[in-house]
Amino acid sequence: MSLDRKIKIAPSILSADFANFGQEIQAIEAQGADWVHVDVMDGHFVPNLTFGPQAVKAFRPHVKTVMDVHLMISPVDSYIDAYGDAGADVLTAHIEAGPHIHRTLQAIRAAGMKAGVALNPGTPAESVAHLLDLTDLICVMTVNPGFGGQKFIDMTGKVRQLRQMIGDRPVHIEIDGGVDPKTAPLVAEAGADVLVAGSAVFKGGSVTTPEVYGENIRLIRDAAQGHWA
Ligand code: DX5
Ligand code: ZN
Repeated sequence: MSLDRKIKIAPSILSADFANFGQEIQAIEAQGADWVHVDVMDGHFVPNLTFGPQAVKAFRPHVKTVMDVHLMISPVDSYIDAYGDAGADVLTAHIEAGPHIHRTLQAIRAAGMKAGVALNPGTPAESVAHLLDLTDLICVMTVNPGFGGQKFIDMTGKVRQLRQMIGDRPVHIEIDGGVDPKTAPLVAEAGADVLVAGSAVFKGGSVTTPEVYGENIRLIRDAAQGHWA
C-alpha cells in the first residue's frame, strides 16, 4: 500500500471561534486545509476541557476533507465507538493515557477508523516499536498537550528516529504544537507529513476575512515544502 507523503496542513479548530465551528471549518477548507484537526480534552488527562462526541458529530457534516480527532482523554476505550459514530476518520489516542494502547489501537481499527497514537514530548520513539503495524499515524507532540499557542519543543530527533523505524509501512507522522512557518521546515525535513497548526492558521483571520487563513496556511505549506526532499 502506498501512502501520500505530501505535506498536509491540518488546522486545529481549538483556535477557532467556539461559537461558530461550522463556518470556521468551511472557511479553513475553502482556504486550503487538507485535514481538520479536532482536539478533544477531558480536564483529567490534560488540564483543559473542550468538547465531546456529540459536538464532534455536529462538526462532521461540515468537514469535507479528513476529520482528524485527537483524544486527550483517559480512559479512551469506552469512548471509541462514540467517536466512530460521530464520524471520525482518524482517531488518535495517547500512549500515556492508559496501560493498554495495543488494545486501544485494535479497537479503533475494529470500529472502522484509522488508528493514531500520540506521544508526549517526554515519551521516547521506542515506545511505539511494537505498535507500528497497528497504527496508521504517529502524532509527535511538540508541546505538552492541553493548550494552543505554546512554544514549539524541538522533537526533530524523535521524528527522524520514527521515520527510520516506520520504513515503508503506510504510517503518517503528524506534528502537533507550535507549528508555524519557522518550525514547519524543521519537522518536514525530519520526515513528518501532517502538520497540525492552531494559532498560526487562525491568527489575524475570521470567517469574514477567511483569506487570512488561506495566507497563513500557504506560508506554513511553502515553508515546509521548501525543505522537503
Ligand atoms: C495541543 C493541541 C494542539 C493545539 C495546537 O494540546 O493538541 O492541536 O491546538 O495549537 P498551536 O498550533 O497553537 O500550538
Ligand atoms: Zn491536537
